[in-house]
Amino acid sequence: EQPHDSVDGLKREIGIREAAAMLREGKLVAFPTETVYGLGADARSDEAVKKIFQAKGRPSDNPLIVHIGKREQLDELVSTLPDTGRVLIERFWPGPLTLILPHRGTVAPSVTAGLRTVGVRMPSHPVALALLQEAGVPVAAPSANRSGRPSPTEAEHVWEDLAGRIDGLLDGGPSGVGVESTVVDVTEEVPILLRPGGITLEALKKVVGEVRVDPGLQAEAQRPRSPGMKYRHYAPNGEMWLVTGTEADMMRTIQRLADDAAAQGRRVGILTTDERLMRYKADWVVSCGRRSEPESVARGLYAALRRFDELGAEYILAESFPVDGIWFTVMNRLRKAAEGRIIHAERSTSS
Ligand code: TXA
Ligand code: MG
Repeated sequence: EQPHDSVDGLKREIGIREAAAMLREGKLVAFPTETVYGLGADARSDEAVKKIFQAKGRPSDNPLIVHIGKREQLDELVSTLPDTGRVLIERFWPGPLTLILPHRGTVAPSVTAGLRTVGVRMPSHPVALALLQEAGVPVAAPSANRSGRPSPTEAEHVWEDLAGRIDGLLDGGPSGVGVESTVVDVTEEVPILLRPGGITLEALKKVVGEVRVDPGLQAEAQRPRSPGMKYRHYAPNGEMWLVTGTEADMMRTIQRLADDAAAQGRRVGILTTDERLMRYKADWVVSCGRRSEPESVARGLYAALRRFDELGAEYILAESFPVDGIWFTVMNRLRKAAEGRIIHAERSTSS
């Protein structure tokens, strides 16, 4: 229970005011947002931002999202705001939407990784908003995990990954959305979805009409536009496979593969939902939420992936989901976690 005590210790020690002061002093502070926990630093300070990359072990060519607490701060960061961006902001800010816009050179070069553009979002989590407003500076914040690991949706996850590497941790309880913000490039005539997230493609289209989807998101073969989407991401330590197919085919294939791996002496985990927990046999059968409630799966996904690491699973078989609405985001993260290892379950020949 050591980590628990220390996290609680930190929680008691640092409140919003102190965390805001630390950010202004160029320190690293992890804080809750409605999507996942972020690791924040003053976005104007190259020195402070570089510490984020060090603490996470993040490649320096992967740009960071800048978080703001007030709408006016956007004008200090970007040179133009196209109409599509304006309407998306009106509809979705504060909330899990990041807009890619041309920057005006006011954030540190390490934030944008040398790009002409900057990603900006205003989170809706009350603690995040209060912190950003109190700090008064734009805050660069990637997810507060070690690079490559599943993103943190609880303060404890941040502690697991970054204890001893950051200056403060603000505990705001579990994240509500559970997957990162939706990233949309609005620098071109038609907005481009770069990363699916908490706001669905369908919801974006309702507001701006046409939205293009970065081909890099569909076919893994093509290079994604968003630098972060090309890295190994969200992955548990074990070898994970995503299994697709009809319910019956998928479940039968998962159980067969689990049995084969167990026969070879591997420690096997299966990722499923509450509804099907009792329908598999393996070393560990873990639920990420309720299939009947997609938002619960988004919320529980990263904690479930982390759970396999705690348990020491060597081989993980994951169920797949539909591809509409928030499921599109869930499937994107599962494909990343599986590093492209997908098994298409064979059709049953008997009926
Ligand atoms: O929900 C979130 O967005 C969380 C919380 C903490 O706000 N943050 C987050 O940050 O997920 P991070 O660094 O893990 O992911 C940022 C994503 C990466 O895929 C990155 O490549 C992309 O946004 N990105 C940032 N700036 C960009 C830019 N100028 N052009 C294209 N993609 C950009
Ligand atoms: Mg991340």
